[in-house]
Amino acid sequence: MQSLQKCLSLEADTKCLVIEPTYAVPDLLDDVRMGLLETPRSLPPKYFYDEHGSQLFDQICDTAEYYPTRVEDALLKRYANNIITEASPSHIIELGSGSSRKTRRLFDACTDLSHHCSYAPFDVCEPMLELAARELDVRYDWLDITPMLGDYHAGLNQLPVDIGTNLFLFLGSTIGNFTPDEARSFIQDLHHRMPEGDYFLIGVDRVKDTEVLNAAYNDSKGLTAEFNMNVLRVLNREVGSNFDLNKFQHRAFFNAAQGRIEMHLLSLEAQTVKLSALQTSFDLEQGESILTEISHKFQHDEIESLLLDCGFEIVRHYEADNQYFSLLLVRANQLIQTGLSRQSA
Ligand code: SAH
Ligand code: AVI
Repeated sequence: MQSLQKCLSLEADTKCLVIEPTYAVPDLLDDVRMGLLETPRSLPPKYFYDEHGSQLFDQICDTAEYYPTRVEDALLKRYANNIITEASPSHIIELGSGSSRKTRRLFDACTDLSHHCSYAPFDVCEPMLELAARELDVRYDWLDITPMLGDYHAGLNQLPVDIGTNLFLFLGSTIGNFTPDEARSFIQDLHHRMPEGDYFLIGVDRVKDTEVLNAAYNDSKGLTAEFNMNVLRVLNREVGSNFDLNKFQHRAFFNAAQGRIEMHLLSLEAQTVKLSALQTSFDLEQGESILTEISHKFQHDEIESLLLDCGFEIVRHYEADNQYFSLLLVRANQLIQTGLSRQSA
């Protein structure tokens, strides 16, 4: 199995273009030191995505309860021709592309419209990038694919720039996995990196009935629980910890005050966990939890304001009929926006 270290170590023999960070990003040991040895305990979500974690995420997307993928895919299917016609991209660059499954809707539209462009999926998980690139290569003979391996937090300025309009994608509501401050600075960084006239398509999950939200992160097949637990396996392998998975329980719930799902790993008993690579250990009390992921849910106007504040012009705000999910097509604009300039879908 491909290790996370391999995913993150940016090795020279990769078939992916390695995107070097423009500033130092904490490595796994730094994150463990800052997140697990301090209270309240937490871990950044990127460590879910070793090869097994990425496969588990893909399986979650197919569960009955995890609606975001299905609803976003339906929106993409419905509006793909409209998006390609509007943006007419020379290059599509996708941040956190994973399996690139939903992105096929855009390539199908390109095929329909006889519009050719290049595609650069950018992700931290090398095996998933390579698999996605191989599958797309078979399906779309016209598509020029350059998989890019790296951390999108520090790599945006390093993305290769080419002539023509870029369409950046950030799908799946992955922006919800950032804190509000992180989300704002990420979108600002992206805007700074985009020449005027480039487009950005972002998918965001919306606030909805708490039961629907809670079910989506507690699927009956237990795949989300498995995905959450997988981070402990990653740590055992990569930092020589001795987490006993039987002593933890998956817990996910909607925190209405914060407008976000929180995913935790709950310690079922008082225990001491060894961290060999750091030559230390730490104690967990019974009932103490490690925050492993937040997944912010957006209000209609909240996401529009964020994008406008960061200098984007809203071209289209596509909403699912049940308002479960939004896709926003926005354009980089040097002008300060003073009001909404959106057309409703
Ligand atoms: N966009 C896909 C996948 C979402 S899962 C979808 O909508 O289904 C989140 C993806 O982001 C994973 O593929 C994960 O490997 C990637 N990812 C997480 N943190 C990252 C980081 N810091 N830099 C680059 N990719 C990251
Ligand atoms: C990738 N990200 C947006 C997913 C989410 O819904 O926050 C990850 C996930 N976590 C549990 N299920 C899916």
